[in-house]
Amino acid sequence: MPLQENMVIRVLFDEARIAKRNGELAAAIKARNPENLLVVAVLKGSFMFAADLIRAMHRAGLSPQVEFIHLSSYKSGTVSTGKVEILRDIDSTVRGRDVVLVDDILESGRTLAFAKDLIMARGARTADICVLLEKPGKRAVKIDAEHVGFLCPDLFVVGYGMDVAHAYRQLPYVGVVEHRGDDKQLEMI
Ligand code: IMP
Ligand code: MG
Repeated sequence: MPLQENMVIRVLFDEARIAKRNGELAAAIKARNPENLLVVAVLKGSFMFAADLIRAMHRAGLSPQVEFIHLSSYKSGTVSTGKVEILRDIDSTVRGRDVVLVDDILESGRTLAFAKDLIMARGARTADICVLLEKPGKRAVKIDAEHVGFLCPDLFVVGYGMDVAHAYRQLPYVGVVEHRGDDKQLEMI
């Protein structure tokens, strides 16, 4: 499925697999019997995952409130600068609540460690982390996710909300951008 000239996407996790896994993640979240549940989706990369996950949560019988926080850790291209900034904060009070932070990828862990510290410092009862993907062995800070969709190979992935320079977010699957007829992953654009 060519998207730009000489570019193809190699699919790593297809729509059906993601949908099935979202149902399992919703069931696992429900099994923890959350009280006064608040889902906080970390923008931008999590928007598609969060949209599907909260519908799976509804089907699982949960009634979360849903909020968004926009954090930025990547300043240029695909290289992390290590610094996390709040670009847009949530409006809701988290005191005493069970919060589930939803993000696309747990990589260095800096973004989610920052988000979890912030939510806990505001008095949340719990702040569990639910990510679609985890890249093992890439952690720069000590943090674990309670819920992980899939372990992801150490490649720069796109689709299902994840981007390179704001492109490819619309893809309904997760994949890797490659040159047509080339086995090697691109050093991104
Ligand atoms: P970290 O865990 O703080 O390093 O940051 C993870 C964030 O970096 C994710 O939420 C994504 O926004 C971004 N990110 C990391 N790896 C990838 C990738 O392979 N594709 C797209 N975005 C990525
Ligand atoms: Mg992100």
